[in-house]
Amino acid sequence: MASDRVVLVLGGAGTVGSGIVKSLLDKGFQVAVISRDATRLEKLESIISAPSKAQLHTLVGDVGTEEGAEAAKASLLKSVGKITDVVSSLGFSWWQGGPPHMQTLSELNRVLDTLVLSTFTSWKAFFPLVKDNPNGSYTFITGGAGERLLMPGTGFLTLGAAGALAFCQVVREEYPNIPCKLNEVKINMGVATPDRLGPGYVSHLEVGEAVASLVEKRCITHTVLCANSAADLKTLILEGRI
Ligand SMILES: NC(=O)c1ccc[n+]([C@@H]2O[C@H](COP(=O)([O-])OP(=O)(O)OC[C@H]3O[C@@H](n4cnc5c(N)ncnc54)[C@H](OP(=O)(O)O)[C@@H]3O)[C@@H](O)[C@H]2O)c1
Repeated sequence: MASDRVVLVLGGAGTVGSGIVKSLLDKGFQVAVISRDATRLEKLESIISAPSKAQLHTLVGDVGTEEGAEAAKASLLKSVGKITDVVSSLGFSWWQGGPPHMQTLSELNRVLDTLVLSTFTSWKAFFPLVKDNPNGSYTFITGGAGERLLMPGTGFLTLGAAGALAFCQVVREEYPNIPCKLNEVKINMGVATPDRLGPGYVSHLEVGEAVASLVEKRCITHTVLCANSAADLKTLILEGRI
C-alpha cells in the first residue's frame, strides 16, 4: 500500500522535486523533504492540498555534507520512523555563467558541490536505508545537459550534470544485484512550474506524475529512462517504464 511507504525526495523543495512531492502525495505516499531553507519548505507546503498535508514531513537540513546528511537522516528516522524509497532531484535548474576562461575555480567548485557532491553525500547516507528492501527504490533525476553543451556559456552546467550522469552509472554498475529498484530518469527537456512554461518545457507536475508512477509500479531496475517528450512522460505514467 502506498501509505506504508515513505519516500524521501531530496531536492523536494525545488522545481522538479516539488512536482514529484505533489504527485507522490496525490498517490497516497508519505513524503519527506529536506531543504536548507525554511521559507522554501513553507512555499512547498502552500501548494499541497489540505488533506495531503499530514502526509508531508519537512525538515531544515543540508544533505550536501556527510555530517549534514547523517544529521538529517537521524532526525528523519526519529520523526518519521522509516524511509522506504528515495528520489534524488538535487542540483539547480540552470547555469549560464559564460565560457570556461571567464570562470573561477570557486565557481566550478560551487557547481560541482550542488550537482554532484550533494548527490554523493546524500546517497551515502540514505542508500543503506533502502538498498536491501525488495519493496524499496532509489531513483536519480538527471538531465541531458550532461551530454552536450545546451547553448553558449553553459559549460559548467555540462560539467556538473555529466558528473551526476557518471555517478548514477557508477552506482548501477557497482551494485548490480541489490534488491531495491535502482533507476535514473533523464529529462531531456526544460522543466518548469505551470506559470513559467515556455516552448520546449514540460510542467513539473507531468514529470512528477511520471516519477511517482515509476516509484509506485516498481516494475524495472538498473535502467535509465530517457524522457525526450511529453509523450514519453505519458508512457511512463501509464506503464511505469518508457
Ligand atoms: N529544471 C529543469 O529544466 C531540469 C531539466 C532537466 C533535468 N533537471 C534536473 O533536475 C534536478 C533538479 O533541478 P531543479 O530544476 O528542480 O533545481 P532547483 O529548483 O534549484 O532545485 C534543486 C534542489 O536541490 C536542492 N539542493 C541542492 N544542494 C543541496 C544541499 N546541499 N542540501 C539540500 N538540498 C540541496 C535545493 O535545496 P534547497 O531547498 O536547500 O535550496 C533545491 O531544492 C537537477 O539535477 C537538474 O539537472 C532539471
